Amino acid sequence: MEFQEMKDYLLEQIKNKQLVAATISQPRAKSNEIKRVKLKPIEIKNVYHIQLEYQYERILKHENIKLEEFAITLNELLEQFRQIHADFTTEKVQIQLSKKNKVMWKSEKLAAEKTVNLSHNRKKNYLLDENTPYPFLIHLGVQTPEGKVKKQKYDKFKQINRFVEFIDDALVHLPKDKPVRILDFGSGKSYLTFALYHYLKIEKGLDIRVTGLDLKKEVIEECAKIAEDLGYDQLEFLVGDINDYNEETAVDMVVTLHACDVATDMALSRAVKWGANVILSVPCCQHELNRQLDAPGLDLMLKHGLIKERFAALATDSIRAEILNMVGYEAQLLEFIDMENTPKNILIRAYKTGKKVTSEQLEGYKQFKQMLHANPFLENELREYLS
Ligand SMILES: C[S@@+](CC[C@H](N)C(=O)[O-])C[C@H]1O[C@@H](n2cnc3c(N)ncnc32)[C@H](O)[C@@H]1O
Repeated sequence: MEFQEMKDYLLEQIKNKQLVAATISQPRAKSNEIKRVKLKPIEIKNVYHIQLEYQYERILKHENIKLEEFAITLNELLEQFRQIHADFTTEKVQIQLSKKNKVMWKSEKLAAEKTVNLSHNRKKNYLLDENTPYPFLIHLGVQTPEGKVKKQKYDKFKQINRFVEFIDDALVHLPKDKPVRILDFGSGKSYLTFALYHYLKIEKGLDIRVTGLDLKKEVIEECAKIAEDLGYDQLEFLVGDINDYNEETAVDMVVTLHACDVATDMALSRAVKWGANVILSVPCCQHELNRQLDAPGLDLMLKHGLIKERFAALATDSIRAEILNMVGYEAQLLEFIDMENTPKNILIRAYKTGKKVTSEQLEGYKQFKQMLHANPFLENELREYLS
């Protein structure tokens, strides 16, 4: 088969929407920054596209091309690469090109027709693909070296993916003209810190510097070792207390995941004082309000310890969100991960807007607080911003 004939055939199959998936590899020039390109069809707003995933040395980039524009892209790809593996609905094709474009062609008819999956690879909850090996997930023991998610780590994998989805949503709120400074308070074993770094730095190619801070020395040392092994040179881990952390004057994004009790509030207050554009915080064990709650009108509920504990947690997060709303943020309470995985499933997401608090907001907040007899830690921390 001649080169032009081969190209026409591939294009014809793709235009007839027969492509299931393809990989184009073996760069003609060693200096080519792109090592491999994966192709798959996807539908975006009901329009058929070919999605290209460019694999660079350390990052992945994606591009979606409309079918009518794909001929140009194919030409460009064949100018750069010499190997093509394509799965079509009824046939598997392997092509090797010589330097002078002599075509070595192998094809195999499939016994059963393959169906085309047009779902966007950003399908809900799975920005990280289940079968792709990610070095950080292998190091953390979530995946096997071959990239299979371990059965007992599947919940963790889901949680990481959900978190990455929130990070992805927050991207537009991060600065583009300077390195992005990110802090993870109470980072613990740091699954999500590594996920955040992987997604923003490796996949999105952002210039970021990330610090994970935790009280536990051994855990921090372990995380620092993993970061070093992975070559994550802009990710550092420090031992310390959130309350004493005064190293920074400005931070763009603050993350806390299951930071115990008022550690979450400390982190939120730090974030506000730094003027962080993005706050993502999944609280944990909210005891403060549980101790303060005194609301005779709610006795019917609060006489049950279990209900009281849950109510206190929900009221605490509502208060936190409202305080953030009153100090120039748009805060939402969202489901982090479904209840089956963890009951600690509320995420406070706040984006900075700079909006001023209104007297109605202040009044509503005051009434709620009085009704519960609450004296929130976060309010005391941010008093100067609430006047
Ligand atoms: C439940 S763990 C969560 C760890 C991690 N973020 C995760 O989601 O897997 C809570 C972490 O917060 C840390 N922590 C609690 N209070 C802290 C404080 N005041 N300063 C720094 N870290 C704190 C604890 O040491 C612990 O590692």
